[in-house]
Amino acid sequence: MMRSRTGQQHVRGQGTALAVVVAAWASSVAWVASPWPAAPAAQQSPAMPPAGAAPVSEPPEAFRRVCIKCHTSDRVVQGRRFRPQWEELIEQMVSRGAVVNDEDFEVIIGYLVSEFGRVRVNTATAPELASVLHLEAAEADAIVTARRAAGRFADFDALVAAPGVPVAALTTRRDALFF
Ligand code: HEC
Repeated sequence: MMRSRTGQQHVRGQGTALAVVVAAWASSVAWVASPWPAAPAAQQSPAMPPAGAAPVSEPPEAFRRVCIKCHTSDRVVQGRRFRPQWEELIEQMVSRGAVVNDEDFEVIIGYLVSEFGRVRVNTATAPELASVLHLEAAEADAIVTARRAAGRFADFDALVAAPGVPVAALTTRRDALFF
């Protein structure tokens, strides 16, 4: 999968001017002037919860340069996905013509996972929990420790009832949690 991205780097320069124009447009129109558009409920797949309550940070330059050439940002962020799903999606975009070098890939996947990620509460590692839920390392560790004591969490209520877990942060990104 790395090869398909790397193999396309020779066309990286193409469309730079357009990318600059698009990025300028995006920063003036889409990201700064207006909040993220809410996804219409009808388009949500039941398996993919909407990116909801949590505030969303501005996308990095690589995302603006690479990911809104062919469609708008609201097409991208209609719902939360697990990291492997985001990775697979970027590969699909590469097969459709997106040019994503390895450095851009890391930046874009980091952005998508942290702002529009999902995480399996009962199996994720502490760093995975931290990146999707915007936690300090100690907070993510607290979830893992509580999980070890509990065996597994049946649902959100069981999770936030566990001792030491960061309830406010979990509540903010509740829609990212998968049990
Ligand atoms: C070369 C053009 C192109 C680029 C660049 C591109 N996409 Fe796409 N993308 C498409 C096409 C074509 C579709 C399918 C038509 C549609 O759904 O609008 C699509 C659809 C999508 C969808 C909806 C897929 C689904 O199953 O619902 C997402 C999400 C997405 N793109 C994300 C991205 C991300 C993230 C990037 C940056 C890494 C990106 N796209 C860059 C062409 C592109």
